[in-house]
Amino acid sequence: MNEKIKGIILAGGTGSRLYPLTNVTNKHLLPVYNKPMVFYPLETLKSLGIKDICIVSGGEHIADFIRLLGSGSEFELKLTYKVQDGPKGIAHALLQAEEFVKKGEKAAVILGDNIFEKVETQPNIFSDDNAYIYLKEVEDPERFGVPKLSDEENVVEILEKPKNPPSKFAVTGLYIYPNDVFDFIKTLKPSQRGELEITDVNNWYIKQGRLKAVFLDGFWSDAGTFESLLKAAIFISGNIKKSIK
Ligand code: DAU
Repeated sequence: MNEKIKGIILAGGTGSRLYPLTNVTNKHLLPVYNKPMVFYPLETLKSLGIKDICIVSGGEHIADFIRLLGSGSEFELKLTYKVQDGPKGIAHALLQAEEFVKKGEKAAVILGDNIFEKVETQPNIFSDDNAYIYLKEVEDPERFGVPKLSDEENVVEILEKPKNPPSKFAVTGLYIYPNDVFDFIKTLKPSQRGELEITDVNNWYIKQGRLKAVFLDGFWSDAGTFESLLKAAIFISGNIKKSIK
């Protein structure tokens, strides 16, 4: 177990791209093949050796997460729950976990609708003073945060859902942050769509020369649209069939 890093799953928001599936329930409780969606980010954090995990969601649904996951002991995890008052953005959701991450600890933050096949750790990733993002080549980068890369493949800027993407990569929903992320979020102003944007946080680390990008191998998808939810379910079902052969 990694003692110096805490895990945070962001599972708020409206899930409006999945209406009417999310009219009365939270997106992250919907099935991805044979498990509720939130099980997958939990497993990803666990695969990184992280067992102390905070789940952030809106007040309407937090009790459903507690019913589903309880203390976490069934999964050999220690779970904490925090409420986000309103879908005010990914960075705002992260800020709700400020007290959960103690001084000197880093945070591994994962979006509750992100499905990763595997994530490899990097040397010092859980102890140094840098932020880390994970990039994956995709066919539709305009749906995501997209990195502008230098010739040496360093990230020089990230654009959120650009009409003309500067690369074929998506910034996936797994971020490793040092503790100063919370102080920076408190200085952020809402974007045009009224949210505190995680891309603004990542661009701040770029400006300071403290953002490192890791290129992902293996399957990755969000599961926040009908197409991507189906794609994720097909991947999981194929994986299960492979493992029982
Ligand atoms: O999936 C990766 C992408 O996720 C990144 O490439 C983008 O840079 C990032 O902005 C994000 O884009 P989305 O449009 O997919 O974000 P969405 O609003 O769907 O939120 C993703 C997750 O964040 C959602 O499953 C739950 C959490 N969330 C979101 C909001 C707006 C919260 O916990 N609270 C919120 O208020």
